[in-house]
Amino acid sequence: MAQADQAPAQANAGFTKRVFSGIQPSGGLTLGNYLGAIKRFVEMQEDDCDTIYCMVDLHAITTWQEPDQLIRNTREVAAGFIASGIDPAKSILFNQSQVPEHAQLGWIFTCVARMGWMNRMTQFKDKAGKNRENVSVGLFSYPTLMAADILLYHATHVPVGEDQKQHLELTRDIAAKFNNDFKTDFFPITEPVIEGAATRVMSLRDGSKKMSKSDPSDASRINMTDDADTIARKFRKAKTDADALPSEVDGLEDRPEARNLVNIYAALADMPVQSVLDEIGGRQFSEFKPMLSDLAVAKMAPIAGEMDRLMQDPGEIDRILGIGARAAREIASPILAKTYDIVGMLRSA
Ligand code: TRP
Repeated sequence: MAQADQAPAQANAGFTKRVFSGIQPSGGLTLGNYLGAIKRFVEMQEDDCDTIYCMVDLHAITTWQEPDQLIRNTREVAAGFIASGIDPAKSILFNQSQVPEHAQLGWIFTCVARMGWMNRMTQFKDKAGKNRENVSVGLFSYPTLMAADILLYHATHVPVGEDQKQHLELTRDIAAKFNNDFKTDFFPITEPVIEGAATRVMSLRDGSKKMSKSDPSDASRINMTDDADTIARKFRKAKTDADALPSEVDGLEDRPEARNLVNIYAALADMPVQSVLDEIGGRQFSEFKPMLSDLAVAKMAPIAGEMDRLMQDPGEIDRILGIGARAAREIASPILAKTYDIVGMLRSA
């Protein structure tokens, strides 16, 4: 076997804790993805656990994606992971569609999940809105594919944002019903690792909305590819209120914009929010904003530079994802085969 065909040695080191998480390549990455997810993924990679991170392109196409743009976004998310410190020799990094077992197990779970459960999924209701009759069937069954992503690796821990909590509960329900229906204990009941509110990064224009790659206003977010000037300009223009910063966490309660900027500072500095307030309490935003933007530039500009460098060589990214996909399949394929056996799918000898 050629070197490139072999799974990286450390990728599946057999730790008892196995982490799986996914990000949709439906746009570029934001500071919200970095602080709320990727930074944490890097920390978990350094702990004693197997880590598997996936660009979920099959999920992305539940809403329309321009084909060329989808390829670009998949590479950009991969570059963002690597530039942030995900090491393809320590973690398995791949895109979902290169591991066909996801779609295959997803179908089995579509037959395990009940309509009643799916009808209660709030993300579907939010995303479909008034357009319910005209969204894809994939958008409705999205959570069964997500359950497959996780259970295909027998993942024990899944770090996600608060908004994914219901999908993880569904994953547990699917695992439990499968085990119960087929009188087995094959699928583990996965632990959610929900990110706290402190790492939930909100829009710079509206502190009550999540920072999002799909917000029409680019000023509402920091993109991981933004350069130093852009980062500084966006923080300068970020919405605030007129008061000075408080010295206690309680003082941020009804001030969503102030809270968001302080949370971002704390997350970037790896400091508790109260320690940040000990330092900046009583100051005006005119003083705090430049501190925040200097810190953000110091932390994020090198990552943006590295992403840019990686994106110059798409062939290299594709090669890394190919190796990741092969390593992922090595785990996924026996689990799917066992699932088929349990369900009673005939296999030729
Ligand atoms: N639904 C997740 C999100 O939008 C992305 C996702 C897909 C995921 N499959 C997953 C996250 C499996 C964790 C595990 O954020």
